[in-house]
Amino acid sequence: MREPYRVAPGIHALPSELPIPGLGLQPVNAFLVMAAEPMLIDAGMPVDRAAFEHSLHSLVDPSDLRWIVVTHDDRDHTGLLPRLLETAPQATLVTSPISVTRLCEEFRLPQERIVTANPGGRLRTADRVLSFHRPPVFDSPGTLAVHDHASGTLYSSDSFGTVLPEIGDHLHDHEEQEFFEGFAVLNRAIAPWTRLVDPVKFLEPIAELRDLRPERLLSSHAPAVEGNLDPLFEAMARVPDLPPWPPEADLEAALDAHETAHSS
Ligand SMILES: [Fe+2]
Ligand SMILES: [Fe+2]
Repeated sequence: MREPYRVAPGIHALPSELPIPGLGLQPVNAFLVMAAEPMLIDAGMPVDRAAFEHSLHSLVDPSDLRWIVVTHDDRDHTGLLPRLLETAPQATLVTSPISVTRLCEEFRLPQERIVTANPGGRLRTADRVLSFHRPPVFDSPGTLAVHDHASGTLYSSDSFGTVLPEIGDHLHDHEEQEFFEGFAVLNRAIAPWTRLVDPVKFLEPIAELRDLRPERLLSSHAPAVEGNLDPLFEAMARVPDLPPWPPEADLEAALDAHETAHSS
């Protein structure tokens, strides 16, 4: 893991990364929101458990944590979840009903400490209103994007991610071309079904997020983006027009290579 960094007043990123062979690094972020009721958005990767816990404790006393929002059940978002339910006894888990079921494949969750939300839902905390949305791309059906209206921050879960040779804290740490090349790869890689969608219907969830007029977009898998988010929404709108990713396998070439290797 890298050191946590402050994205905006009261918002900290807990950044890590995953190698993607041949392509670079996929950022993997969780976020801590120091609202009146401190809130964690996603819970790191199993491989980072000790480092994630250390980083989190450097920012907040876990006994003060009141909300743990899990955007979906994938392992890169749930690493510290079971431990947190022990060390943060005041915290309530917020996730979708589909994610609850899928999380229960791996974890014994205290059902009385769960609040469920679906796209279209809202949650009021002491000083925040969160709204939940279906992001345009996702790799788990229960995925929620979360908009914090008080800070104008959209937490987009897996969508709007990218792959980079090295990872900076913000989009402006990168060449835009590099960011958007990785963006075109990752958003197809996690949602290969985008090549099958109606490109006009695909615009609906993008418009829903754009109409929130967020001031910043925090993806689980990208550096932070502040200010004008239109280039991201426009790049997402083009995803269904791109050729499939991964590229169609060249089966004959693979068989030829196999035969050559075994005849020598
Ligand atoms: Fe995922
Ligand atoms: Fe993810």
